[in-house]
Amino acid sequence: MGNFLAGKVIAVTGAGRGIGRAVALAAANEGAKVVVNDYGVSIDGGEPASEIAESVVKDIQAAGGEAVAVADDISTMAGGQRVVDVAQTEFGRLDGAVCVAGILRERMLFNMSEEEWDPVIATHLKGTFTVFRAASALMRKQGTGTLIGFTSGNHQGSVSQANYASAKGGIISLVRSAALGLHKYGVTANAIAPVARTRMSANVPVELTEIGEPEDVAALVVYLLSERAREEKITGQVYTIAGPKIAVWAQPRELRAGYADGGWTPSKIADFLPGTVGTDPMPMLAQLEAMAEAAARKARPNA
Ligand SMILES: NC(=O)c1ccc[n+]([C@@H]2O[C@H](COP(=O)([O-])OP(=O)(O)OC[C@H]3O[C@@H](n4cnc5c(N)ncnc54)[C@H](O)[C@@H]3O)[C@@H](O)[C@H]2O)c1
Repeated sequence: MGNFLAGKVIAVTGAGRGIGRAVALAAANEGAKVVVNDYGVSIDGGEPASEIAESVVKDIQAAGGEAVAVADDISTMAGGQRVVDVAQTEFGRLDGAVCVAGILRERMLFNMSEEEWDPVIATHLKGTFTVFRAASALMRKQGTGTLIGFTSGNHQGSVSQANYASAKGGIISLVRSAALGLHKYGVTANAIAPVARTRMSANVPVELTEIGEPEDVAALVVYLLSERAREEKITGQVYTIAGPKIAVWAQPRELRAGYADGGWTPSKIADFLPGTVGTDPMPMLAQLEAMAEAAARKARPNA
């Protein structure tokens, strides 16, 4: 056991499987007391089962750590609040809230139903809000705390997961808002865009060339939750971790601007914009053909 998180109380949503489970185990192994939240659902969000969170608590206790299970649905305000309330009643405080819970409902945009859109936004984006909302109120009083959201490289856009990509883009804006709004209360907020072998990544239609294990992601989460990261004043950042690679994403900023006197009209803009302000080519658009070939290869592994 290490002591990177000695004395800290950490809540992890989606901690029953995959990356969240690895985060909960790693946090406990580094000395944290852990609230293990998982609704125990299938990959598309159905069939909840409370034993999923409970089994991770047993694993932590068997290794000599301290943990408590919360099997609530974090897409509800009551579920998010309960995760934080249980941290406070069981362990007296909350130093870190890590929002990992997620589901997938893949469909092309022109076929996507409300039943495919709403639960994905509710689990990822609202499910990060519900926990951040409750955790930030407590952390503000404590004068310290760390929030971590889970985004995806897909926040750049996705061919067949507009719901998921929209939620993941929203999580980045939520994290940056938390970093700004809570800065003066000593609370940091960062996001992770992981690539790791789980049941979720097994569902990706293309071959992932850069991929690692949930334990790699957990190591980054533990670092961001630790005093070492707080000393470096890391906040408002988005990191990718994919096997041996760690990358930081750029902050959004204006790329190029042009100015003209007088009011704008469509024809003035048509004459002005292409040659001055122009466009910023979309990297994923350039990769569409290669992605389609990789998807076809994955569909026909022996071809
Ligand atoms: N695995 C990857 O390569 C990858 C890539 C990009 C982003 N992500 C993100 O990382 C996170 C973890 O993904 P994973 O691959 O470990 O997935 P996973 O499916 O293995 O685990 C997700 C867990 O979240 C739980 N969950 C779902 N809805 C919930 C709810 N409403 N309340 C509480 N728990 C709920 C599930 O029961 C499950 O145990 C997700 O947010 C995912 O979008 C993963």
